[in-house]
Amino acid sequence: MRAGAGIVRARPVRAALAAAALELALGLAAPAGAQPPQGIVRPTDERGLSQLQLGAQLYAGNCASCHGADGRGVPSPRPQRGAGGIVGQGPPLAGVGAQAADFYLRTGYMPLSDPHEQPKRSRVLFTAGERRALTAFVASLGTGPPIPSPDPAAGSVAEGQQLFISHCAGCHQAVAQGGVVTGARVPPLTEATSVQIAEAVRIGPYVMPSFSRTDISDAQLNSLIRYVRSVGRHPPDPGGWGIGHIGPIPEGMVTWMVAAVALVGVCLALGGRLRS
Ligand code: HEC
Ligand code: HEC
Repeated sequence: MRAGAGIVRARPVRAALAAAALELALGLAAPAGAQPPQGIVRPTDERGLSQLQLGAQLYAGNCASCHGADGRGVPSPRPQRGAGGIVGQGPPLAGVGAQAADFYLRTGYMPLSDPHEQPKRSRVLFTAGERRALTAFVASLGTGPPIPSPDPAAGSVAEGQQLFISHCAGCHQAVAQGGVVTGARVPPLTEATSVQIAEAVRIGPYVMPSFSRTDISDAQLNSLIRYVRSVGRHPPDPGGWGIGHIGPIPEGMVTWMVAAVALVGVCLALGGRLRS
């Protein structure tokens, strides 16, 4: 497992307040989406190119400013001005394999517009053919893991629940609805496909730790996926106020608003005492 350092499992109220504060900060500072405002850059005639040539050109136009030529990465002190004037910096991609490229492209996590932003699920800007070409190109940069092919039907929900509680619930909560860890938004798992869950577990995107086959075997991964898929779409409500399952950030906003009303009440009470 990598990462882990600096991650605090916040208690629900603190987490809700942190989410509200984060939402306010994001709302004021960055109303735009996480993707390049000008869209993506594509070659004028894609049909004349082989898959790897297309992948290389899409990479040069949309990824190299942050990930460097040949996927060597762009170290932080010398950011380059890249496509669409985006100043970029990103990790090396040589060796991440088709697995990471497929995950980051299919989820719309990439391309980012700002290297300091947390990737998030967004509209996929590439066509399926372009996505496959980019994935093949990134895979060709080094030796890395292929796209996994999990078989959740072979897993057990009960085993999956145990694994989820011990490895994932600290961040993603028991019902797989997402939450907040310090410095990151934890997404709900309702939109991830079986392949994407398998990829995320092996890659460990952003601050999420990666889990090797020693941590979670392929058979256990099948159970984990089966459990996540079984609860994902119909989250149960074990006590507490679901607020229509619109997610932790709006729910945090509600907490924030309740707190604001309470504060105004305290101010009015204090004001009344001062006057009398
Ligand atoms: C330390 C906290 C943490 C732990 C533990 C953790 N995750 Fe995550 N997970 C995250 C964060 C943060 C993201 C968002 C990554 C990003 O934005 O790039 C994420 C993203 C994901 C995604 C992609 C969701 C999407 O739709 O964008 C999946 C699937 C996922 N995690 C599954 C799991 C599973 C299964 C486990 C347990 C084996 C697990 N995670 C353990 C923090 C965690
Ligand atoms: C504005 C800068 C930026 C641009 C443009 C960008 N990336 Fe990224 N990329 C990042 C950053 C920063 C990370 C690290 C985020 C994380 O850890 O989740 C990252 C992570 C990744 C990863 C995961 C690497 C790993 O170690 O697992 C892949 C794969 C990836 N990017 C592919 C792409 C592709 C393909 C494109 C072009 C379509 C692209 N990126 C465009 C900044 C960028």
